[in-house]
Amino acid sequence: MIKGFLFDLDGVIVDTAVFHFQAWRQLAQKLGGDFTEEQNEQLKGVSRVDSLKKIIEWTGATVSDEEFQTLMVEKNEWYLELVQGLGPQDALPGALNFLQTAYDQGIKIALGSASKNAPMILEKLGITPLFTAIIDGNNVVNGKPHPEVFLKGAEALGLEPSECVVFEDSIAGVQAAKTGGMSSVGIGDAETLQADIHFTALGDTTPEALVAHF
Ligand code: BG6
Ligand code: MG
Repeated sequence: MIKGFLFDLDGVIVDTAVFHFQAWRQLAQKLGGDFTEEQNEQLKGVSRVDSLKKIIEWTGATVSDEEFQTLMVEKNEWYLELVQGLGPQDALPGALNFLQTAYDQGIKIALGSASKNAPMILEKLGITPLFTAIIDGNNVVNGKPHPEVFLKGAEALGLEPSECVVFEDSIAGVQAAKTGGMSSVGIGDAETLQADIHFTALGDTTPEALVAHF
């Protein structure tokens, strides 16, 4: 029986995945390279430090430890500029209604995001009170595809992994859910994500339908 929902943030609840992509591309171009939207699938759900490592590998740039730190700060500054005006209007189709409905039906809700900016984004959307637990990039040692972020979320809700559904738009996040023993809902392409069930957006399903399905 499903009793809890564990939500990824960027690309599931809010349209911020595009801003991460933009900021990382700007950084890759600064390093003398670039990467495609297809390659970007490998960055989704991945921590800031691991994303930068991948981009350095793709661009073939040589970067000292000090430059590495500076580049991480720079990417985040660009990202913060891009999300400055973010608000409820940037929620993905049906996401806010889906969250509110799940909350009203007594489903326990946790966030499981790789982003250290997650609490600030939730505030901008005005949905912080819907979350019983917020696990983000500040609370984990191992990034996705390691299941730590979702295992901590389930634990914070007092639930077994098997009682939880993970909502993800990333390959790394779906892998984390599978390794962690949770059911998975993919937001995006089925072939890419390989989750248990897929939708284009949360608005294309309902909490009741998913609880019945799993
Ligand atoms: C994930 C995004 O949610 O958070 C990634 O999908 C991002 O693109 C990661 O790199 C880390 O985010 P932040 O805000 O801590 O740099
Ligand atoms: Mg995501």
